[in-house]
Amino acid sequence: MIGIFDSGVGGMTVAKAVEQVLPTYPILYLGDLARTPYGTKSAETIIEYSRDNARFLIENGATVIVIACNTASSVATETLRREFSVPIFEVISPAVSEAAAASKSGRIGVIGTSATVRSAMYEKLLRQTRPDCQVFQRACPLLVPLAEEGWLNRQETKMIIRRYLLPLRNQQIDTLVLGCTHYPLLATLIQPRIGKRVRLIDSSLAAAAFLGRAFSERTDLAGRLSTGGKNRFFVTDRTESVQRIAEMIFRRPMELDLV
Ligand code: DGL
Repeated sequence: MIGIFDSGVGGMTVAKAVEQVLPTYPILYLGDLARTPYGTKSAETIIEYSRDNARFLIENGATVIVIACNTASSVATETLRREFSVPIFEVISPAVSEAAAASKSGRIGVIGTSATVRSAMYEKLLRQTRPDCQVFQRACPLLVPLAEEGWLNRQETKMIIRRYLLPLRNQQIDTLVLGCTHYPLLATLIQPRIGKRVRLIDSSLAAAAFLGRAFSERTDLAGRLSTGGKNRFFVTDRTESVQRIAEMIFRRPMELDLV
């Protein structure tokens, strides 16, 4: 099974995209809602939670892991790769490649959680991939709770997004990375506020496309997984809004099992 984890519902945007790209492989999803958000926590805590999540997925049959969370990807990837023997994918490098290729001016914005921005992982990888680029990062800590709460079309959310994006608008970026898997839920509010000419790079879609390519190029990956079987979704806490958002993302009734 492809094991996918996030701090909450954001990683479901990755799981949904993986379902579309690799429909024959079953998915095992874990949303650590009881401990969300990760983005405001220290690197040590995020690594500890990520380790728990990976262990849970492997114990329940995952043979490939996708860290469907930019925050955990930015601080915990190395540790998980060292400690677990299954292939581990993250969501940052695929978004970096897309952004580096898409930007004409080389002025690239990145929005993410405080921990992702603090790690400077996007900035580092973007500069490695495209040395001429200028990277403008902005932490948007209020967006995850707004998305988890389902405030996806409220005036308050629009105002907060406008406020967060203003400095990036002033920098005249031409590409903006949605460096948090919750942000695709807010993409229709983000686009008009950053400007319609700015290309949005969705780290969830980029990660799923990357995984699809990896599976077609590397026979060892497909060999690790059996095909067929049911997708399963686990959460460490279950609330009404989580159920609603999960069903909005997948556009079908969702069974979320509590662990
Ligand atoms: N969805 C996660 C990300 O991509 C983090 C949300 C959180 O702060 O827990 O960074």
